Amino acid sequence: MEKIVVANMKMNLELDEVNNYLEGIKSWETDGLVFCPPSIYLPYFLGKGYEVGIQNYAMYENGAYTGEISAKQVKSMNINYAIIGHSERREYFNETDDIINKKMKLGVKNNLNIILCIGETLKHKENKQTEEILKTQIINDFKDVDDISNIIIAYEPIWSIGTGLIPTNEEIYNTTKFIKEVINELYNKDIRVLYGGSVNDDNVTILKDIENLSGFLVGGASLKPEKLKRIKETIIC
Ligand code: PGA
Repeated sequence: MEKIVVANMKMNLELDEVNNYLEGIKSWETDGLVFCPPSIYLPYFLGKGYEVGIQNYAMYENGAYTGEISAKQVKSMNINYAIIGHSERREYFNETDDIINKKMKLGVKNNLNIILCIGETLKHKENKQTEEILKTQIINDFKDVDDISNIIIAYEPIWSIGTGLIPTNEEIYNTTKFIKEVINELYNKDIRVLYGGSVNDDNVTILKDIENLSGFLVGGASLKPEKLKRIKETIIC
């Protein structure tokens, strides 16, 4: 399966920085890269022909929801990817599995490639509850979702996001295997799994050896074009 690197730029970069960023990536071969800038900048990336994703969309179909963007509107802009269930949304915006499940169904209905983030806290890890937590998230987030062909799971241990701490290759391999097994039990299908959490241009040279991964979700390091380029070139020829 083809590998991808998803650049989750979060709520970073102002317009002049975005222009510099676009200048920085201008001459690249960007196959396999998905840029997820703050929504207001998406048209600039789309205008240059890049593959893009939105960082979030509404749990409602349409209507009077000030400040929200619907899955249908996302698709209508030719934005093919969407991140949902990121731990920052779960934590700071109180997104429950129930809300994420509503978004999953809207994403599937509108033919978006969904990148669903799941992951455990440090406390869960220390209590050896990682598998239990991930399984619960999967079961709840996928409830009544019938078609998983456009869904990718991003395994993002919460304790690893933005901290510089990452699990060992063996831990990531085992957890990814577990995630695939849970999906296989539910759907009898394979699912693509990305790893995210403190991925950078150094550690990717080690992480790239994890054989059941389909790529990476990169936050901080994706803000520097030259770092993102090295990450991409390490895993995609
Ligand atoms: P990070 O973020 O690479 O800065 O740890 C990853 C993410 O939150 O998706």
